[in-house]
Amino acid sequence: MERILITGGAGFIGSRLSLRLIEQGYEVTVMDNLSKQIHSDTPEQSLLYNSIKDKARFIHGDVRSLSDWQKAIDGNDVIVHLAAETGTGQSMYQIDKYVEVNCAGTAKMLDVLANSQHYVKKVIVASSRAIYGEGKYLCEKDGEVFPESRSQSDLDSGKFECKCNYCGRVLELIPTDEDSKIHPESIYGITKSNQEQMVLMSCKSLNISAVALRYQNVYGPGQSLTNPYTGILSIFSTRILNNNSINVFEDGEESRDFIYIDDVIDATMLAIQKDIKNNIALNVGSGVSTTVKYLADSLKKLYGSDIEVNISGDYRIGDIRHNKADIEKVKEVLGFSPKTSFEVGLRNFVNWVKEQEIQSDNYEKSITEMKKKGLMK
Ligand SMILES: NC(=O)c1ccc[n+]([C@@H]2O[C@H](COP(=O)([O-])OP(=O)(O)OC[C@H]3O[C@@H](n4cnc5c(N)ncnc54)[C@H](O)[C@@H]3O)[C@@H](O)[C@H]2O)c1
Ligand SMILES: [Zn+2]
Repeated sequence: MERILITGGAGFIGSRLSLRLIEQGYEVTVMDNLSKQIHSDTPEQSLLYNSIKDKARFIHGDVRSLSDWQKAIDGNDVIVHLAAETGTGQSMYQIDKYVEVNCAGTAKMLDVLANSQHYVKKVIVASSRAIYGEGKYLCEKDGEVFPESRSQSDLDSGKFECKCNYCGRVLELIPTDEDSKIHPESIYGITKSNQEQMVLMSCKSLNISAVALRYQNVYGPGQSLTNPYTGILSIFSTRILNNNSINVFEDGEESRDFIYIDDVIDATMLAIQKDIKNNIALNVGSGVSTTVKYLADSLKKLYGSDIEVNISGDYRIGDIRHNKADIEKVKEVLGFSPKTSFEVGLRNFVNWVKEQEIQSDNYEKSITEMKKKGLMK
C-alpha cells in the first residue's frame, strides 16, 4: 500500500504526515482547498502549503465536490481523510457549513468508494475527543458517570466542576475510553462522530479496512498562529508576543489532554501500516490532563514575558471541563505510545513560534463574535 491520498494535507497534521510518508518512500497525493481561515488570503505564501507543494502531488480540490474526490481517489491505495472545518465554537453558528464540509464531504468520498472502481484498501478518518463531550467521570456513590453539560446557573456562580447526573455530587475525572458514551457538546463534535460512524460502517460493507483516530488536543510546531478559532497554545502565544494579557476562562483548573504533533504522526503512520482486523475507533492522546492555568503560566515563563494571566471566570457555552484519554486500546491495537512529554513539546513549540513572524492578534474579534452570538458569558 504505497500510494496515499491525504485530504487536508496542506494543514497542520496533514502536512507533517505527508512529509513523513514521503520520507519513507510513499507516493503522496494531497487534496486541499487551501481554505482562507487556515492559509490566509494568499495561500501561495502559506508555510504549511509550501512545505509540501513540491514534494507531494497536489490537487487543489474541495471535499464538497464529487468530481474532486474522483480525481483524488484515482490510483491511490489508502485514504487519510483529514480535511475538515475544525473550530468547536465556530461550529455553533456555522452549522450548515460544518455539516456540509465534514459530513456531506465524507459522504461524497464514500459514494465514490461504493460506486466506482478503485484500489482503496484502507481509510483512516480523523475523529476527535469532541465526540465524548464531557467524557468519563467517577461518582463516589454512583460509580462511572458521563455527566451532562454543565448548567448555566452553576457556571454563572463559578461552580465549574462536573456534577453527577443522579445525585449531584461533584465528580472525579477518570480516563475516557473508546466505549464511553458518545455525547458531543458542539456541532463540530456531532460532525466528527457522524464522520467516523459513516466511515467505519460503510467501509465494513465495502470490505475496506477503516480506522477512526480520535485525536485529543494536538499541538506543536506548524500549528496555525492565525486561526483565532482553534488552538489555545497559539492563541495564548499570540497574546503574549503582542504584549497583551491572557484571559484564562473559568477558574483555570479546566484541563485538556495535549498530544504532541510528532506523536500524532507516529500513531497515524501505525494506523496506515498495521493490518487492522476489525474496523475500529481509537483514542490518540497523551493520557495526561494538563490545566489551562498551568499551560498559561508555562508559556509565559518560556517566552520570558511578564504579561498578566487573568483567571477571569468567563466561560464559553459548549466548552467541556476536563479531558483525559484512556490510551490502552491504541497501545494494544497499534502498539502506539506517546514519546514526547508536555514540557519538551511545549519548549519545541515555543522555540518554533519565536522563529515565526509575530502575528497580529485577532483574538478579541473572535471573542466579540462569540459574545454577540450569546455563546460566551
Ligand atoms: N488539531 C487538533 O487538535 C485536532 C484534534 C482533533 C481532531 N482533529 C482533526 O484532524 C484533522 C486535521 O486537523 P488539523 O489540525 O490539521 O486542521 P487544519 O485546519 O490545520 O487542516 C485542515 C486542512 O483541511 C483543508 N480544508 C478545509 N476545508 C476543506 C475542504 N472543504 N476541502 C478540502 N480541504 C479542506 C484546510 O485548507 C487545511 O489545510 C481534522 O479533521 C480535525 O477535525 C484535529
Ligand atoms: Zn452520583
